[in-house]
Amino acid sequence: MKEAVIAYDNVDICYDGRTVVRQATFSLQPGEILGIVGESGSGKSTLLQSAMNLLGPGGAVTQGHIWFQGQDILALSDEGMQRLCGAQMAMVFQDAAASLCPVRTIGSQICEAAAAHLDMGKEEVRRQTLELFARLGFSDGRRVWESYPFELSGGMNQRAALVLVMLLKPALLLADEPTSALDVCAQKQVLDELLYLRDQYGTAIMLVTHDMGVVSRVADYVLVVKDGQIIEYGPAKDVLASPAQAYTKELLAAVPKLRRDRR
Ligand SMILES: Nc1ncnc2c1ncn2[C@@H]1O[C@H](COP(=O)(O)OP(=O)(O)OP(=O)(O)O)[C@@H](O)[C@H]1O
Ligand SMILES: [Mg+2]
Repeated sequence: MKEAVIAYDNVDICYDGRTVVRQATFSLQPGEILGIVGESGSGKSTLLQSAMNLLGPGGAVTQGHIWFQGQDILALSDEGMQRLCGAQMAMVFQDAAASLCPVRTIGSQICEAAAAHLDMGKEEVRRQTLELFARLGFSDGRRVWESYPFELSGGMNQRAALVLVMLLKPALLLADEPTSALDVCAQKQVLDELLYLRDQYGTAIMLVTHDMGVVSRVADYVLVVKDGQIIEYGPAKDVLASPAQAYTKELLAAVPKLRRDRR
């Protein structure tokens, strides 16, 4: 078996002394998509944030290890972590516009992030971005490049944020409900971009969603969290077809039957 991109080994996570994630153990191989589901407050975002050291001042991993390509990321210095973030590990959020700078164009933000992590001139960044926009079906990539986030729809901002991730080609993408704020059409485009990223660059993706329909469309594995504990973890086709836990059955029952049919 190849080395895991990321492996959680018996991880506990606390905020201000309160344990909110317990004994999390799972791993992702290159090119694997892991769907993480569970009710609000169950610890899904906390799981993602711990990988990038984004738990905030009160948060900490208090037990276990998180290995990124064999490195213990909890033992990394701040500089070591900064080197990983962006270049090898990237994150996208539910509200893409909120994670973009409101007073700068998409193009200038892409150039800035590329300058921090890639050895590539501005013209080349622009050329590759426009090429990706076109390949991904943006009919007016030049306008998107020159636009401010408020001039674009939520779905367009999310897709622009993903194009930036594609330029960086990280080994791991942490995606926290990237499709939850989108209509069905934009949701499909974003899922297609995730699949493209995985297929072209072998990026492994941890995808938090509350939508089992999204899980059934793209996930290879599923992890179900309840009250900070992983109660079910396995290949998506098995978990979706015959969930072992009553809780997973309830999550599935909330999805109309048609949307559960796998592609
Ligand atoms: N910065 C923080 N400080 C203190 N407690 C926090 C912080 N962030 C999250 N928590 C708590 O940790 C627990 C898990 O929260 P988390 O945000 O990971 O849940 P979630 O599964 O992502 O929920 P949602 O589906 O609503 O996004 C909750 O009890 C939450 O109140
Ligand atoms: Mg969350």
